[in-house]
Amino acid sequence: MRIYKTKDYDEMSRVAANIISAQIILKPESMLGLATGSSPIGVYEQLVKWYEKGDLDFSNVTTVNLDEYKGLPKENEQSYYYFMHEHLFDKVNINVENTYLPDGMNLDSEAEATRYEALVKSLGIVDLQLLGLGRNGHIGFNEPGDIFEKATHCVTLKESTIDANKRFFDSIDDVPKQAYSMGIGTILRSKKLLVVVSGEEKAQALKDSICGEVTPQVPGSILQFHNDVTIVADEAALSLVPEEYLSQK
Ligand code: GLP
Repeated sequence: MRIYKTKDYDEMSRVAANIISAQIILKPESMLGLATGSSPIGVYEQLVKWYEKGDLDFSNVTTVNLDEYKGLPKENEQSYYYFMHEHLFDKVNINVENTYLPDGMNLDSEAEATRYEALVKSLGIVDLQLLGLGRNGHIGFNEPGDIFEKATHCVTLKESTIDANKRFFDSIDDVPKQAYSMGIGTILRSKKLLVVVSGEEKAQALKDSICGEVTPQVPGSILQFHNDVTIVADEAALSLVPEEYLSQK
């Protein structure tokens, strides 16, 4: 596990964007796993800037997203489909036919989970999966629980997640109660994982993920079992992680 400590969110975003851009330059037909939420917005902004300068070409890139709210149509501004178009897909030369997210409007949970898991598998191995970390330690929408869910599944969101995400909605009642998410097994199949974490409200979850016991109560702790993880986090997010962890390889 490599941990890069940055001074703030902007530096975190640039470092992570550099890693993604290196991936695309070295392998133009990369399959990227993408994430939503406030953590990766700066990463996407930086990638868009480099694309506009002519330094990046997304034309051969394929993307799969981690998760999507169940019941939100694509045109809803809070859907992850909308988010990805707003922050990345509509601003670069990616072929949108090569971008995939779970279908939040398929209300048949089992059918959608099975469909998306099979789709992701059929596309091959994700070269680089970008991840954020929830305040309660979730990755994707894999919430704390008794088991690590292996495959894509329908999640009933924890109150803590609904509360954390209400800032994006008009009222807490508008936050969907369920979502589709890649499972831990789906995520761990990726060759590389790149995790961006910012802010002191993530400090405990990040400490537990890096230094704590590997347990489904802290889904991010499973990162300790993957052999190619890069965490790019700012000082505030890393404030509870002892110094010796920052230099481990
Ligand atoms: C959200 C998403 C995750 C994201 C996490 C952190 O609910 N489902 O994929 O990484 O929670 O979000 P944020 O970056 O806004 O703190």
